[in-house]
Amino acid sequence: MSIAAVAKKQTPASLRARKGGVPIVSLTAYTTPQAKMLDPHADLLLVGDSLGMVVYGFTSTLPVTLDMMIAHGAAVVRGASRACVIVDMPFGSYQESPQQAFRNAARIMAETGCAGVKFEGGTVMAETIRFLAERGVPVLAHVGLQPQSVNALGGFHAQGRTAIEAEHVIADGLAVAEAGAFAMVVEGTAEPVARRLTELAPIPTIGIGASAACDGQILVTEDILGIFDVFRPRFVKRYAELSGAISAAASAYADDVRARRFPGPEHTYGAAAPEKRKTQA
Ligand code: KIV
Repeated sequence: MSIAAVAKKQTPASLRARKGGVPIVSLTAYTTPQAKMLDPHADLLLVGDSLGMVVYGFTSTLPVTLDMMIAHGAAVVRGASRACVIVDMPFGSYQESPQQAFRNAARIMAETGCAGVKFEGGTVMAETIRFLAERGVPVLAHVGLQPQSVNALGGFHAQGRTAIEAEHVIADGLAVAEAGAFAMVVEGTAEPVARRLTELAPIPTIGIGASAACDGQILVTEDILGIFDVFRPRFVKRYAELSGAISAAASAYADDVRARRFPGPEHTYGAAAPEKRKTQA
């Protein structure tokens, strides 16, 4: 589909209305220049707490703070004009109570200008999703594999591969839809479960490692560009290998500086030009 066909500003409501239609294209974004490059191509830009691993070098998303999410969220909003910008709520900023979640979501929305928030959790977060949705906070839910629960799960493992797990993922997805989420991310989930959930849920499913059956797809931008190599999940498709290009550019610059080839005359300021004599009136 051409960009022009979906050229209008995307909102939680317009994305919600895409259920079963043209797949929703989503990517993560963390900075203004990145948002400007992705905005013409993506319907949804997620300021994911994955930035903790991708940008800050943490080994999980758990150390990410509300202030980090707000700083990066505001940067992405400044670079996006068409895509719907959603900001992730970090670990510990929403699980305590619906009131805590509302207070922090309201701060994120007021200080970044984003269109809504995302947080992890299915049935257990349904009450919170309802509380926020009824008070004007659009919520993108996140079910299946939930990286903020890495310690409880004992690692990052695909979900829905046993009958019990499949039942849980489907119950989670239906609970968040019923509670008022406008869409849900379905992460690391076996294809038959993602397909069944997509058939049953009245809101769009946006898959990451959850098969082509979903109503949309999301990937971490640095993964598709080949500039995040800490781990490479099966579900990532590389569309570029930029690490090599960046390293080659840095190496060429280093060679030029050491050989005094850079800066050249064209990069150098000369002496100040003599001031033009003012003509007398
Ligand atoms: O934090 C994130 O970037 C995410 C997406 C990968 C869905 O939650």
